[in-house]
Amino acid sequence: MRVFVTGGTGHSGSYIIPELVAAGHEVTGLARSEAAAAAISALGAKVRRGELQDLDGLKEAAADADGVVHVAHRQDLLVTGGIDAVAAAEVPIMHAYGEALAGTGKPLVVAGSIGSSGPLGRPVTEEDSALIAGDEHRGTLHARNVVETTVIGLAERGVRSSVVRIANIAHSTTDRAGFLLRLIALAKEKGFAGYPGDGANLWNAVHIRDVASLFRLALEKGPAGSYWHAVEDGGVPFREIAEAVGARLGVPAVSIPADVLMVPGYFGFLANIVTQSYPASNLITRRTLGWEPAQPRLRDDLDNGHYFPAG
Ligand SMILES: NC(=O)c1ccc[n+]([C@@H]2O[C@H](COP(=O)([O-])OP(=O)(O)OC[C@H]3O[C@@H](n4cnc5c(N)ncnc54)[C@H](OP(=O)(O)O)[C@@H]3O)[C@@H](O)[C@H]2O)c1
Repeated sequence: MRVFVTGGTGHSGSYIIPELVAAGHEVTGLARSEAAAAAISALGAKVRRGELQDLDGLKEAAADADGVVHVAHRQDLLVTGGIDAVAAAEVPIMHAYGEALAGTGKPLVVAGSIGSSGPLGRPVTEEDSALIAGDEHRGTLHARNVVETTVIGLAERGVRSSVVRIANIAHSTTDRAGFLLRLIALAKEKGFAGYPGDGANLWNAVHIRDVASLFRLALEKGPAGSYWHAVEDGGVPFREIAEAVGARLGVPAVSIPADVLMVPGYFGFLANIVTQSYPASNLITRRTLGWEPAQPRLRDDLDNGHYFPAG
């Protein structure tokens, strides 16, 4: 397949491009700078110069391809407009792809979040749609749900669209900005690794290389209008993550009282996220696509030398 990929220089994209190339696909990566163009070439892809702001360019690139993988996002907007602005910028991009791909049956695979269904009191499955986000969700991760629902909606227009919901913690030796690094930095700064309340709330994790293989499978054979779960099955109690981080830093894991002052006092802008539970199943993804996570699990990857460099 000739595949157009955005975000090829980012954490997930820099694994997705080699994964696609190794499987025999011809990849063209979007690059908005010389440095990005060089990085994308080094991964084995052709380069298309451009940026997310150029909707006509994205439309053209999608129309020229047999399929699209979209993992770029306007993180620059986080500073000024928060997550709402990031999501608002992404919706017109999805519509642009929709116009280019309508009626073709070509695949469009876009990154989503494992928390998008909201708390259901049971593990979320691939059959659970993203929660329709309202005003009460402004400023929360759910603000981005509109991107997921827009992508899934494109299935009705003849696009083989799907969303890969990525775990809270996507880990690897090249993770530069994920939640895990933030939790490690907090533990160093405070001198202990905090967890909210009893820490029984579930988080989940996935190796970014396994994320990449799932994007490839979704692109190659995912039915239209599907959600896929890029998570290790089940979940990891948040307390275990804090304990694992604490043990490697030589600091204690400590409960932070689940309180409106204490939790933000430790976790800052992560407070709303760390207190949630995200139990999730990956059974439908594995059964339907034959996806089998093969990379080290979180507890093993913590020892890869990247997260806790010696000295
Ligand atoms: N745990 C997780 O990591 C997690 C969980 C749920 C969802 N997600 C979602 O998964 C997606 C991918 O995340 P990631 O961690 O792989 O991303 P990332 O490492 O932050 O990379 C972002 C990519 O977007 C590109 N980009 C940013 N602004 C651009 C613009 N204006 N024009 C063109 N390209 C632009 C960057 O290119 P440059 O090199 O040019 O900057 C970079 O390649 C995101 O939507 C993220 O929200 C991640």
